[in-house]
Amino acid sequence: FTAALVWLVFGYLLGSIPFGLLITRLLGLGDLRQIGSGNIGATNVLRTGNKGAALATLLLDSGKGAIAVLIARALGGDSAAMLAGAAAFLGHCFPVWLGFQGGKGVATFLGTLLALDYRIGLAGCAIWLVTALITRISSLSALVAAVLAVPLAFVIGMPGLGWCVGFMAVLILIRHRANIQRLLAGTEPRIGRRG
Ligand code: G3P
Repeated sequence: FTAALVWLVFGYLLGSIPFGLLITRLLGLGDLRQIGSGNIGATNVLRTGNKGAALATLLLDSGKGAIAVLIARALGGDSAAMLAGAAAFLGHCFPVWLGFQGGKGVATFLGTLLALDYRIGLAGCAIWLVTALITRISSLSALVAAVLAVPLAFVIGMPGLGWCVGFMAVLILIRHRANIQRLLAGTEPRIGRRG
């Protein structure tokens, strides 16, 4: 039990670093919470017009999930890896530093997934990319990738991972409530537009 708690706290703290907010502040790009959707993720960093900052946010937000998983697996095995990965995802969505008002978890979800099982991770990234190329809508791509990753985990015979991915997918859906409403209303902005 103590070990599980350690991995949860470790993953959470790593995941709670709001890279998007830190990078945009550091570069003087303004307050991300007042721009576009107000979200702290890479999609919204792109709305500042700085592609490099958006890419850095994407890599760091996904990297923190992957690193949490890799360190936990090396020291504590597969269950520790899943705990730390899910906790990193939670840390990104509900960071204590921002009064628990964090991001939507998509980059951290994909990074965690890549490190938990590279096949599902790659499939998730590919689904995101293909949907984004077709629709140019980041939130829709994330929703499709998250929802499809769950059955994929079961199909390849990893039910434990399936439940872990399912938990994250449900949270991604909840975190995208406003996006889903805009999607249904046909007002969700395309990638790169200021929205
Ligand atoms: O990664 C979050 C993305 O799915 C939606 O972001 O800023 O368009 O709400 P945003």
